[in-house]
Amino acid sequence: MDKQDILNALSTREIGKHLEVLDRIDSTNSYLKREALRGLPHGAVALAERQTGGRGRLGRSFSSPEGKGVYCSVLLRPHVAPMEAVDLTSYAAVALCNGIEKATGLRPQIKWTNDLVMGGKKICGVLCEMSIAPDGSLQYVVIGFGVNVTQTPDEWPEELKEIAGSVSEAVRHQVSREKLTAELLNSLEEVYHNWILGKRERYLEQYRRDCLTLGREVKVIRAGREEATFAEDIDEHFGLVVRYPDGRRETVTSGEVSVRGLCGYI
Ligand code: BTN
Repeated sequence: MDKQDILNALSTREIGKHLEVLDRIDSTNSYLKREALRGLPHGAVALAERQTGGRGRLGRSFSSPEGKGVYCSVLLRPHVAPMEAVDLTSYAAVALCNGIEKATGLRPQIKWTNDLVMGGKKICGVLCEMSIAPDGSLQYVVIGFGVNVTQTPDEWPEELKEIAGSVSEAVRHQVSREKLTAELLNSLEEVYHNWILGKRERYLEQYRRDCLTLGREVKVIRAGREEATFAEDIDEHFGLVVRYPDGRRETVTSGEVSVRGLCGYI
């Protein structure tokens, strides 16, 4: 990745003012968390050509082959209580949809909670991590996202072939990782500022429009048990409101459960 090409297309004031492109790292999230303790500023960005230990949600790994994706983490230091920062992941998902649409002309959809999907395949995952000081205040948030950009269908390992895809495959032309990175960061900064300003409704509405889980039969997976439900709504904290066959309604949050479609990936 050419750092200068990214900087040339970047129109941010804070995010990416400190930007590193690493050749190889365990995980850009882990790297930024280590550097955050050494005083890295708000808005710092770490990108890697490849990750040897890319991490996903729920303890999963994130496939990060060399030169094929955008593996990126952003350090944010908002002055809010930790509870208030929890929603940031969902805002980030909308921001990433905006950035991908800007760079490619095609808008991904969101599989609740935070997977971005194009052409029925996962093309991006988001992992937000926060650190809380001993006095209970928020020290920092790291928003990490991995976008599959140039992989062709035959390149995926067997276990990912059915569920993973790339942006280039979905839009049917090669997408520049530098341009895409810049648009993702431009978009993240805009959304971050609106989050600070409390413009929740706008992003809730957009999230509901983008969310392909809504209006579908889904399985709620909790403690290894799967239950069939219907995804009815997204509540004001981006929780998924589901209805069980007996009429019972419940809001599930990303911390508690994962949701799988009844047929195939979605
Ligand atoms: C998921 O799919 O569950 C989330 C995947 C998040 C992957 C990104 S890649 C950059 C950053 N570094 C990591 O180790 N993870 C995130």
